[in-house]
Amino acid sequence: MEKLSFKRHRRLRSTATLRALISETNLTVDDLVYPLFIIEGEQIKHEVPSMPGVFQLSLDYLATEIAELTKLGIKAVMLFGIPKEKDQEGSGAYSDQGIVQRAIRKIKDLSPELLVIADTCLCEYTSHGHCGIVEESRIINDQSLVLHAKTAVSQANAGADIIAPSNMMDGFVVTIRKALDDAGFQQIPIMSYAIKYASAFYGPFRDAADSTPKFGDRKSYQMSPANRLEAIREAASDIDEGADLLIIKPALAYLDIMREVREKFNVPLVAYNVSGEYAMVKAAAINGWIDEQAIVIEKTLAMKRAGADLIITYFAKDLAKWLNN
Ligand code: PBG
Repeated sequence: MEKLSFKRHRRLRSTATLRALISETNLTVDDLVYPLFIIEGEQIKHEVPSMPGVFQLSLDYLATEIAELTKLGIKAVMLFGIPKEKDQEGSGAYSDQGIVQRAIRKIKDLSPELLVIADTCLCEYTSHGHCGIVEESRIINDQSLVLHAKTAVSQANAGADIIAPSNMMDGFVVTIRKALDDAGFQQIPIMSYAIKYASAFYGPFRDAADSTPKFGDRKSYQMSPANRLEAIREAASDIDEGADLLIIKPALAYLDIMREVREKFNVPLVAYNVSGEYAMVKAAAINGWIDEQAIVIEKTLAMKRAGADLIITYFAKDLAKWLNN
């Protein structure tokens, strides 16, 4: 047979040790942020039907939850609140006795070193379910900013370590940065949901957080899935306005965006592996159609490979168990 010349790529794949040695991307528990849904009331531990394994928890369940997370080595949580009462202005979002503010204080009491990231939005607190002030069915940008800034400051006052505004109003980063600075929180980073698409993948979250808009949709403030260049503009303006970390959301259908932002900017990037992405894998796993562990590790690695430094994921506990083994 004629001697052909070709590369022997398989040389570096021959043993597990060799494969580990040349691995370009590694997942660790340090990369993971676990979202928590805190609900007003007592003795509530309610599994979200579309998100098996994810619960709405009342404050009295926090101690067990935090103990479990600590044992697993998870070092960061992201908080969402479900209030008893909602109103037009979403006042529960910025009340010092709001559910998230109380949860932050409680977590900081239980475990000061656990990093608490507060999602800053109004949609869980407004009666109409939108992320800002509504006038004649329109979501009013600049008036909404005032409330987002109030929310961020009250979350920082309660002890949040990072503020993560997810409302997609224009100017939210600079407005919140100024409000935090004025209140003496110059050291609190902003993890901006800089690139947030209007996505059907948020469906199960809206069940979990009870935040489905009562009319219309979020397309006048969240981005169209058709757009790529607009994502670059969003990232650039949030960095200009003072964002310390950028979230790209959802994760899986937008890994091209993650890669492109990674190449253009040098700030830490966060992938939000959202509720619908979780629900799909869980449903298939429960049916026995896929190998859940292998799939979750593979897709989480893909987010890191695309450029994410950290990952917000409902799989954080499962991943921690698998990675610790
Ligand atoms: C609030 C918010 C949403 C998510 C995170 N923050 C919902 C939305 O914009 O409708 C979605 C997270 C997920 O689907 O896991 N604005």
